[in-house]
Amino acid sequence: MRSKVVSRFRCLEPSSMMKMFKEASKRSGLINLSLGEPDVPTDPSIVEALRQAGLEGHTHYAPSSGIPELRGAIRGYWSRTYGLEVPLEQVLVTNGGSQACHLAFQVLLEPGDEVVLLEPYFTFYAQQVCYHGGVAVPVVCREENGFVPRVEDIERVLTPRTKMLVLNSPCNPSGAVFDRATLQGIADLAERHDLIVLSDELYESFVYEGEHVPFATLPGMRRRTLTVGGFSKSFAMCGWRIGYVLGPEEILRPMDLLAIVQTLCVNSLVQRAALYALENGAPFTRRLHDLFRDRVRCASEGLNGLPGLSCGVPKGSFYVFFDVSRTGLSGEDFAWRMLEEAGVVMVPGGAFGTSFPHHVRLAATVPEERLREAFGRMKPVLEGLVRDGAA
Ligand SMILES: Cc1ncc(COP(=O)(O)O)c(C=O)c1O
Repeated sequence: MRSKVVSRFRCLEPSSMMKMFKEASKRSGLINLSLGEPDVPTDPSIVEALRQAGLEGHTHYAPSSGIPELRGAIRGYWSRTYGLEVPLEQVLVTNGGSQACHLAFQVLLEPGDEVVLLEPYFTFYAQQVCYHGGVAVPVVCREENGFVPRVEDIERVLTPRTKMLVLNSPCNPSGAVFDRATLQGIADLAERHDLIVLSDELYESFVYEGEHVPFATLPGMRRRTLTVGGFSKSFAMCGWRIGYVLGPEEILRPMDLLAIVQTLCVNSLVQRAALYALENGAPFTRRLHDLFRDRVRCASEGLNGLPGLSCGVPKGSFYVFFDVSRTGLSGEDFAWRMLEEAGVVMVPGGAFGTSFPHHVRLAATVPEERLREAFGRMKPVLEGLVRDGAA
């Protein structure tokens, strides 16, 4: 029988990250440094808030755009933390930052519209752009520039078909934190070329050096920015599936209408727990921040101490994106060899665009002792590579 699946979805394939997760799930005794989620459980007080919400009868459908109390709390958070003032109508609660990005591309892209993605980028963006008929246009953020893009490199790829640009600072996978001057340069481009900027700020709580500058706080940018935020990382709530987007009503309204027919609303109990988290969870977030700051430092020190590997110290997020070219292996071969021979799972750079085939991402989402154990396991394999003359 001829395939009935829509042609643009016939080519759907799991990313190399998903393949790695799948392979790792079949084996035991591994040290898994591939998962982009805090290993720490959600604070028990947040879990208790969910239980209470259930007992109080918040078990019905919620408004599709989110309960007003939570939308108000999100608005309050961005106002007091960053001075970003948005009215309630410009806050939409979603099933994670992932759904926020998906809806944004769905609402904004006509077939053939171009979307600038800064490489290395979070895997989902390119897939989501493609699913919605857009064309992903990569711009490389060079390692020697701390994985921060150069404004002139972005300008060079802009065409009359460019509709959107995706920012992700702090960045998954590079750990880069974009400085204000660069963001201002991008803002000038956005204004001149009439671009919508999707600014995925899911890691805003995890900045260790420099400051987090929400793109929408730059002069004139609120009307052309969708700010994606979440609870997955800041409150260790990955499995709860809640996030949000702040942006112009003209864009949020159709996103909301699409979300209604997809999911009706975000889980009502989870929304109550998220409200509790925003109102009471700052000390927990602070603890997560300090924990991951120490771990990424430990990880980059450990990696730099291994033969053939090099990296900088990430300024944010909880990833280290390191160069393996001196081992003589591609990132893909390196990651598979470490899985097979050292029992350590990491994600090859190819999962984050095509420009970093000799990089690998490590997620510092295990305790420091475990990181050190992983480096201990990797060392003899790397020494073997050096002996063979590759490194
Ligand atoms: C940059 C980035 N954006 C979005 C997401 C998705 O987050 P959520 O759990 O809120 O859907 C992730 C998850 O790893 C991420 O790293």
